[in-house]
Amino acid sequence: MKQYIIKGGTPLSGEVTIGGAKNAALGIIVAAIMADEPVTIDNLPDVDDVRVLLDAIESIGAIVERIDSHTVRINGACINDVSIDEDAIRKIRGSYYLVGALLGKYKKALVALPGGCQIGSRPIDQHIKGFEQLGAKVSIHHGKIDAQAENLVGTHIYLDCPSVGATINIMMAACMAEGKTIIENPAKEPHIVDVANFLNSMGADIKGAGTDKIRINGVSKLHSSEYSIIPDQIEAGTFMVAAAATHGDVLIKNVIPKHLEAISVKLIEIGATVEEYDDAVRVSADHRLGHTQVKTLPYPGFPTDMQPQIATLLALSEGTSTVTESIFENRFKYVDELARMGASIKVEGNVAIIEGVEGFTGAAISAPDLRAGAALVVAGLVAEGYTTIDSIHFIERGYENFEGKITALGAVS
Ligand code: EPZ
Repeated sequence: MKQYIIKGGTPLSGEVTIGGAKNAALGIIVAAIMADEPVTIDNLPDVDDVRVLLDAIESIGAIVERIDSHTVRINGACINDVSIDEDAIRKIRGSYYLVGALLGKYKKALVALPGGCQIGSRPIDQHIKGFEQLGAKVSIHHGKIDAQAENLVGTHIYLDCPSVGATINIMMAACMAEGKTIIENPAKEPHIVDVANFLNSMGADIKGAGTDKIRINGVSKLHSSEYSIIPDQIEAGTFMVAAAATHGDVLIKNVIPKHLEAISVKLIEIGATVEEYDDAVRVSADHRLGHTQVKTLPYPGFPTDMQPQIATLLALSEGTSTVTESIFENRFKYVDELARMGASIKVEGNVAIIEGVEGFTGAAISAPDLRAGAALVVAGLVAEGYTTIDSIHFIERGYENFEGKITALGAVS
């Protein structure tokens, strides 16, 4: 089993370049199969979830040319199957986008129910509601989502909660429906806007992504495009927290600082220095940081995908902090692992009450999921002595060359 072994105690310093956004890439790869012409996607993160999804679209006949580790050309012209039930695809969350894309293009899809990190119950009722309102019949049997329609017709869809997955999925199906669709209360995350921009670059007509109302005029076909994925907000945020936690000084390049505001504000509030440049942020800290309250919220609020990382930093900061998780009900699984390293965190419902300690000591721990795994790496970077982290396959699902990047910043592994 692969492990990270980290010798803590070295402040991170230097420069790191952030890759393309994983959660945008998953939507974009799938949306690419909706065109019957070649689509070139650049700034693709070289991570496991992306590889699984590329294999999946290849398995139904899409032509996938891997030009280099960050560029792929996809052509959906030869798709000969709308049924996907590979073991690998069940393990990732982004597989659900295949339903929206295949339903939009072929009016039918049969796709294994998605997996992904075990961070809560993760229902897909809002996806299904959207497809049904567009005119599809959707059923779930033998572990698969079966969606079929004679015709998809644009309509007015109100999401009960601003779901990232449902917004992207409905946007994909609706962009090849007849007439106009309005999605109210959509998610506004940067990757929603990126997927919409990508679909528009292929000839879709989507307006308002990133606002409270998305308006889509259906088109009958999509065409070739060349597109570069936005930088990963969460990879950047993870390095920001790692810089602050290790009392380091790191220039984090290839970012969109606006996407990082909620994270920057909290770091500044507890005493770190954050300098913003056009496409970079520099984070440094030279003393023990202070306490605060954090509550995860849909964008532009504090991202749930940064909750374990900020909690780890606060566990080392002075005073009592609280972290409230309002998106997923089971996202505190890393707390027991941090406790082995000396953290003092009590979870009551969806709130973690954190008494900051002066330092951690290295221990043998296990990554419970992707972002929690990244947070434990941050803990290991700070801890006295050696930390061994296993189940790092979770981390490799979403962080490209994490080990290489932190080692280049001076971490000892
Ligand atoms: C996406 O998950 C991301 N995954 C997650 O990334 C991220 O944590 C999450 O959005 C929130 O930002 C991908 O993009 C592949 P949601 P998703 O639908 O789409 C409820 C990572 O670490 N809900 O926005 O599954 C749901 O229970 C991860 O990269 C419904 O009730 O999240 C949750 O409380 C893990 N019904 C809330 O909405 C639905 O039909 C937000 O979920 C859909 C969602």
